[in-house]
Amino acid sequence: MHNVDIELVEMTLDVMKYAIHRITNESPELGAPKKEQELKRQVGETITPSGIGGENAFRLFRDVLVKATVPIDHPRHLAFVPAAPTRAAIMFDLVTSASSIHGAYWMEGAGGIFCENEAIRWLVSLTGMPKGAFGVFTSGGTAANLSAMVTAREYWRRSKENQNKKGCLITSVGAHSSIKAMAKVIDADVLLVETDDLMTAEALQKKIDSLNKSTMERVFAVVATGGTTNAGIVDDLNGIAKICKELKLWFHVDAAYGGGALAADSVRHLFNGIEKADSITIDPHKWLFSPYDCGAIIYRDPELAKAAHSQEGSYLDIIKDPGAHGFNPSDYQIQLTRRLRGLPLWFSLAMHGTDKYKWAVERGIELANLAGELISSRPELELIRPPSLSCVLYRRKGWSAEDYKNWTYTNHREGLALVTPSKWKTKDGFETVSRFCFINPDTTEDDIKVILDTMK
Ligand SMILES: Cc1ncc(COP(=O)(O)O)c(C=O)c1O
Repeated sequence: MHNVDIELVEMTLDVMKYAIHRITNESPELGAPKKEQELKRQVGETITPSGIGGENAFRLFRDVLVKATVPIDHPRHLAFVPAAPTRAAIMFDLVTSASSIHGAYWMEGAGGIFCENEAIRWLVSLTGMPKGAFGVFTSGGTAANLSAMVTAREYWRRSKENQNKKGCLITSVGAHSSIKAMAKVIDADVLLVETDDLMTAEALQKKIDSLNKSTMERVFAVVATGGTTNAGIVDDLNGIAKICKELKLWFHVDAAYGGGALAADSVRHLFNGIEKADSITIDPHKWLFSPYDCGAIIYRDPELAKAAHSQEGSYLDIIKDPGAHGFNPSDYQIQLTRRLRGLPLWFSLAMHGTDKYKWAVERGIELANLAGELISSRPELELIRPPSLSCVLYRRKGWSAEDYKNWTYTNHREGLALVTPSKWKTKDGFETVSRFCFINPDTTEDDIKVILDTMK
């Protein structure tokens, strides 16, 4: 299994041929899911005592299984938060795998961690946080949010009077589902600020004023969103920062999706105040063109994260020894053994330069505005609200929830596009609407027109 033999050589050639073809393919087939029984029928038993052979397994993957997946970088994949890793980043993902580096501590991963840290430094510079702020790559936004929440809660528990209390955090209804899910992991309560649009300082203050003393004593953090997943809305970060400072609450900004827009001069002002955060989540695998998976968490004071996350064990003592001394990513987030998942971003940034990143993010914003204009020019369509960052919410007049669902399935089945419905709050409840999220700079005006034409 670990031998270098002719089978390995042949497999390597097959894999490289596939990888080169896939990476250079500008319009990969828009695959669709199949039922598990159907896939099983097509590929049969793949795990057997003697193995089915590399050639055979690879053929099944290439000819059957990968076709039952949706390429997230398809230019007409505008659902959820899609992705568009650069070709350089994908190539370097292969190099990262081939290099077998342990990314938890400097002693083993120094050269790779150096590269990750160069990329983190650029991310920190986009936030405008003060000197000393630093961060680390995580598996994604959920893990970054969790790492920040653990740090915030542990910091709060440094005060004796908080040690036996159940913590509580405040966020808005527009916050991503991972905030509530990760609050469960740390057994904290979540209080929601009801907002129709962005969470303002006034709305947050009103929520705080409505709390009784014992609940307020349990509040340790406020989570604002720097680009909501549904609509691209950025909360009033300056106003929220001010309240957090006054009340000594941890201020976390979840910019998992919107963080890429910090690079875009046209919308940077929307994020004013982010530099006052105690921690910020940014997902390079969303709008900074990294392959999955790559999130990042940045802390104003990384020492607080270290105090919360650093693991102890006799087998780990050596990594803290001055002889091995350096930055240990495992100290700043929830994971010990980790892939150097920031390496593809580093390589792509180093190769292309940050100006190209700026351009590519601006292109997503331009596409959203263009879609807004096209929607406004068609009588059967209507914008729900002006495009924000790269999100566009719009309605097809007269359509029911069922119509949106059928439209999504038809376009997907026909390999035309993947655009999924969402919901928007109205005074009578929730309306089903259509939503675009633009990430891929290869998406064209024609792509948008072709999709809108199917709504006539
Ligand atoms: C604002 C926001 N936060 C967190 C997440 C979760 O990130 P991940 O899926 O990388 O865990 C998302 C995902 O879309 C998001 O949009």
